[in-house]
Amino acid sequence: MNQERRTAIVTGGAHGIGAAVAKRLAADGLAVAVLDLDESACAATVDAVTAAGGRALAVGANVADEESVAAAVDRVAAELGAPTVLVNNAGITRDNLLFKMTALDWDSVMNVHLRGAFLMTRAVQKHMVEAKFGRVVNLSSVSALGNRGQANYAAAKAGMQGFTKTLAFELGKFGVTANAIAPGFIETEMTAATAARMGADFEDFKKMAAAEIPVNRVGQPEDIAHTASFLVSDGAGFVSGQVVYVAGGPRD
Ligand code: NAI
Repeated sequence: MNQERRTAIVTGGAHGIGAAVAKRLAADGLAVAVLDLDESACAATVDAVTAAGGRALAVGANVADEESVAAAVDRVAAELGAPTVLVNNAGITRDNLLFKMTALDWDSVMNVHLRGAFLMTRAVQKHMVEAKFGRVVNLSSVSALGNRGQANYAAAKAGMQGFTKTLAFELGKFGVTANAIAPGFIETEMTAATAARMGADFEDFKKMAAAEIPVNRVGQPEDIAHTASFLVSDGAGFVSGQVVYVAGGPRD
């Protein structure tokens, strides 16, 4: 079985990192379901894949909603083929210092990242176990190590790491690997929104971030896509339960 016959689901595939991952996996030969909240928002990613000669399907779904996830995974299996590669990338931020953080800020972030990754992986794993092959890649973050103003997000991203390692233990015997990518600063709408929230010009914000990064630049979505491409490849079958920091320098 080679990558050309495999189907991947990339959540949050309409924008940013997810869009780059979807395009890269399609270029690698996988059929790709581009899943995001609004199906029409997936069109740009799907069109880019199709224009490059790949196969993609736009799927509107909310990863935090059990019924929505079940319907989406069934649809992907019926229209593209049984999904055996899953990239849990959908994410949101609701940053605030702890004393100002609302319970809704907390729950919203937990629901998209942790409940979302759980529901998606639980729905897709049966296809992986049947195929005796699977690749799960979860998006963590350097914020898992702690970040001012992100108690909710840091907890969720640290949670993604524990979830990943547990998947590696439970699913390894079925040919399924699970790994996490922990990006540093990546130039996307999410980081642009962070700059805006802090009242900073995005170009200045990026320059300040780059000055703190050993390779002296901020990351691009393609940096994460390249790492995901490796982790889902056939040759990466002995890499499981790892957290790969893709941050332009070392992290603890
Ligand atoms: P983005 O905001 O550009 O894209 C996130 C996508 O997820 C959007 O298309 C959004 O509609 C989708 N999404 C949100 N909630 C959803 C839900 N309930 N169901 C389905 N889709 C949903 O964000 P970006 O920067 O591309 O981030 C992607 C992932 O990488 C996130 O998990 C984020 O936490 C993580 N990350 C990003 C970093 C960065 O510097 N941009 C750094 C570290 C981690």
